[in-house]
Amino acid sequence: MLIVGIGGTVSPTSSSDGALRIALDEAQRQGAEVKIFSGDLLKKLPMYDPTDPDRTPEAQEFVEAMRAASGIIISAAAYHGSISGMLKNALDYTEDMARDERSYFAGIPVGSIAVAKGYQAAVNTLSTIRMIVHALRGWPTPYGCVVNTATDEGGTGVAGAEEGLRMVASEVVHMARAFESHAQIVANS
Ligand SMILES: Cc1cc2nc3c(=O)[nH]c(=O)nc-3n(C[C@H](O)[C@H](O)[C@H](O)COP(=O)(O)O)c2cc1C
Repeated sequence: MLIVGIGGTVSPTSSSDGALRIALDEAQRQGAEVKIFSGDLLKKLPMYDPTDPDRTPEAQEFVEAMRAASGIIISAAAYHGSISGMLKNALDYTEDMARDERSYFAGIPVGSIAVAKGYQAAVNTLSTIRMIVHALRGWPTPYGCVVNTATDEGGTGVAGAEEGLRMVASEVVHMARAFESHAQIVANS
């Protein structure tokens, strides 16, 4: 079972990257194979062009990992009331999966993590991730983790959110296993 983590920013001390790595650590602890596509890779993806079928090696690797995933975890920093342009551009590459037998994120669980300097932006960004996941026919998992990095305003930062970050991963792994056993029952019936 492969769980793919997508997110983080270009910041060398990215908190949304750190949050994603904690969640992926939990997925791995629960027996999943994990792969991360963070700022260092996402920043190399050219602006998604649906009219040009040529893809860079990085873009091909990214799309193939999303195709192979049994579950996804998205970790977004709040940028001006939404997710960053870099992360949105990466998620636009799912358009290459539109005509796959399993189109976009159909039938797979997607966990959401939102990081911001304040709860309001974090919660708005969490909703944005879930709206994108719905558009991609994915299954947003019930618990979404918001991380407030404004510690001077009562935020707990990434370290204080560890339990919630592990919960996101736990639900993704749980749902991925449930979906896979359902698919096996249907195939054998
Ligand atoms: C371009 C930009 C826009 C931002 N917009 C918001 C915002 O609208 N609301 C907010 O609470 N924080 C905002 N922030 C703060 C980030 O969400 C916050 O610092 C987050 O921890 C950054 O994630 P990172 O550490 O992974 O880079 C913004 C930061 C940047 C760089």
